Amino acid sequence: MGVRGKHIVLGVSGSIAAYKAADLASKLIQAGARVSVIMTQAAREFITPLTFRSITHQPVVTDWWDPASDLSIQHVALAESADAMVVAPATADLLAKLAAGLADDPLCGTALATQAPLLLAPAMDAHMFEHPATQQNLRTLQERGATVVGPERGRLASGLTGTGRLAAAETIMGHLAALLGRQGDLKGYKIVVSAGPTEEPLDPVRHIANRSSGKMGFAIAEAARDRGARVTLVTGPTALPDPPGLRTVHIRTALNLRDRVQEEVRDAHAIIMAAAPADFRPASMAEQKIKKGAEATMVVELVKNPDIIAETRGDFLKIGFAAESEELLKNARTKLVEKGLDLIVANDITAENSGFAVDTNKVFLLEPSGQVTELPLLLKTEVADRILDRVVELLAARGKRPVGV
Ligand code: PMT
Repeated sequence: MGVRGKHIVLGVSGSIAAYKAADLASKLIQAGARVSVIMTQAAREFITPLTFRSITHQPVVTDWWDPASDLSIQHVALAESADAMVVAPATADLLAKLAAGLADDPLCGTALATQAPLLLAPAMDAHMFEHPATQQNLRTLQERGATVVGPERGRLASGLTGTGRLAAAETIMGHLAALLGRQGDLKGYKIVVSAGPTEEPLDPVRHIANRSSGKMGFAIAEAARDRGARVTLVTGPTALPDPPGLRTVHIRTALNLRDRVQEEVRDAHAIIMAAAPADFRPASMAEQKIKKGAEATMVVELVKNPDIIAETRGDFLKIGFAAESEELLKNARTKLVEKGLDLIVANDITAENSGFAVDTNKVFLLEPSGQVTELPLLLKTEVADRILDRVVELLAARGKRPVGV
């Protein structure tokens, strides 16, 4: 899912941020997209067409009248073949031309001719961005269905700090993937995903945690987003940035996680618990930092945390994970039954390149019917899509069509 196999038309206009469009083009190519670049004349003042041609291996369109460009003959060629059009950077001038429906250059002409979704990533001086004319143009374009990503706050070319920096390539790509997946097979469904560890505090400085990085849960959340779902990601502390195009809720302790999950699942169609909540927490948290003292040992009394997924009640699919170090299938099936799950993803956390913190996972999918599906070692992004493939089937089997779909 996402941009793989898609044809993205990338419009580049004349901002100092035009050089960042080369990085975006490169990331799109690496993600499996085909990219056709259209540059305004002003963009060519900042970066050359050769740069983009070297990255995309596609002709770069710069003007209507270039006899070498196939666009001059079929000037809506790109418009018709685009799966999405991204304008990054989008200058104030270009936004004004798009809002007015002008078509005197190939970028504006293609934007006017295409039926594909349009994503605009503005970049300009902060005062230009805040100007009522620019704000009005953005509102006009959004009312027509365009998606606006950024700009972000930061240091600008002028040396000032303000809102005008081009959004990061990863942010643009996340929103683009969501845009491309809007009509996906999870369209209209609300999916709640939990990810990451919890932290169970001992004192103001120390806590008990685990090695979960959040990668598995984040991959599921992003994959569900890219298939059209409305996603809420409830995550413990991780080093991962909040994924664009979905709602992220941050928690710390297992009790926090329990409270937020119970809140979020009220209108959900499915919950996928990829998080690693602590089964125990310290019986009490010391008000002050615990002093070492003379004793060679220390005993910490632990009390059980609630079993969050087992406790959740409602008319939604319950998908859990089983992190096991031995007797994987036996232990996973026990959890499947005891927790009342519709599906459990069993992963051997001792297998090489599987489980905590790594980018891959070796899993089995177990169901109450007794069905067991073994997956080969896959990237967590691929495991995510395979889990969601089964979620789509289970939702359809339960007749859980979302309202209005
Ligand atoms: O985050 P990564 O670094 O990518 O690592 C991924 C992962 C190994 C954390 C993930 O694949 C995984 O296995 N997550 C589940 C970890 C876990 O807590 O497994 P468990 O067998 O202890 O729990 C079984 C199920 O009950 C899980 O769905 C868990 O979310 C849930 N649970 C556990 C404890 C608890 N108090 N409440 C729960 O709901």
